Amino acid sequence: MKKVMSGIQPSGSLTLGNYIGALKNFVKLQDDHQCFFMVVDMHAITVAQDPAALREQSESVAALFIAAGIDPIRSNVYMQSHVPQHAELGWIMTTLTAMGELERMTQFKDKSSGKDSVGAGLFVYPSLMAADILVYNADLVPVGEDQKQHLELTRDLAGRFNNRFGEFFTIPEPYIPEVGARIMSLDDGTKKMSKSSPNAGSYIALLDSPDVIRKKISRATTDSGREVIFDPANKPEISNLMSIYSECSGMTLAQIADRYEGQMYGGFKKDLAEVVVSTLEPLQQRYNEIRSSGAITDILAEGADRARIVATETLNGVKERMGFLPAR
Ligand code: TYM
Repeated sequence: MKKVMSGIQPSGSLTLGNYIGALKNFVKLQDDHQCFFMVVDMHAITVAQDPAALREQSESVAALFIAAGIDPIRSNVYMQSHVPQHAELGWIMTTLTAMGELERMTQFKDKSSGKDSVGAGLFVYPSLMAADILVYNADLVPVGEDQKQHLELTRDLAGRFNNRFGEFFTIPEPYIPEVGARIMSLDDGTKKMSKSSPNAGSYIALLDSPDVIRKKISRATTDSGREVIFDPANKPEISNLMSIYSECSGMTLAQIADRYEGQMYGGFKKDLAEVVVSTLEPLQQRYNEIRSSGAITDILAEGADRARIVATETLNGVKERMGFLPAR
């Protein structure tokens, strides 16, 4: 069975962008793949985190994985820090990465621009992400568009290792959805919807109440004009709302355009809010059940136990090929 691996950071509330771009596909892929789905706390600390908030967010994200439909029996759900082989292979990957490769990463440029002091962890973050993927020899990595460049680096590092030390790593393929790979912000159709935005009105959090969702969608910026048509270049904002509609309802973009032909934005936005609410309400109900059941600790422990077995085997193979003296 082919292997799927992906991760989500526990740094702030997950958004509809995380759900559509990533989480929804995790669920889809688990039927016919061996899956490793991780809450990447080691990545989250590349920017300062409040310890209590990190703890709460970590458990919350793990519960959202399950609430979204990931089955923890079939798939491995765990914390990155519970499988220390990530950090170890991360260091090894850092030694294979060129500074220039990291300097070219657009996410690093975005996150570091205008800052007086930037942590070295933020800079080497992509090497750790490569280790996350390669330590399982994953075939497929479901991510949104913004992770594509990191995936390319991962592929390069895997190839570099194989060239230098002999065929070993699988070269992973990104799995990026056609619609919904880049859900945009509700207040600006040219910016990515992001959980780190200071304006909570710019994103829909997976745990927003129905009323908050309705309010945010009714206030979402829309392009001038009045037609509901999919045209990302000229109508980025309405096109973004149509992508959300499509991903939450299962209707195609063409079907949505047909349904709202000749209508104004108001009715479309009202219906969109209901489509989003009916997607998130059952997820929120399951989320509350899982949190109050206290089951997350065991789920994470079992997931990490299984993941560690695979990761240890890979790491041992890497060390042997690189010439590390065996420990015994
Ligand atoms: P993170 O935590 O920023 O985002 C998690 C996933 O959500 C996707 N995503 C989006 N998709 C569509 N529209 C959006 N507006 C949107 N915002 C976020 C992201 O593309 C991602 O798939 N570096 C990763 C975490 C990571 C990882 C890994 C992923 C660490 N190790 C190994 C895959 C494999 C990150 O920061 O994602």
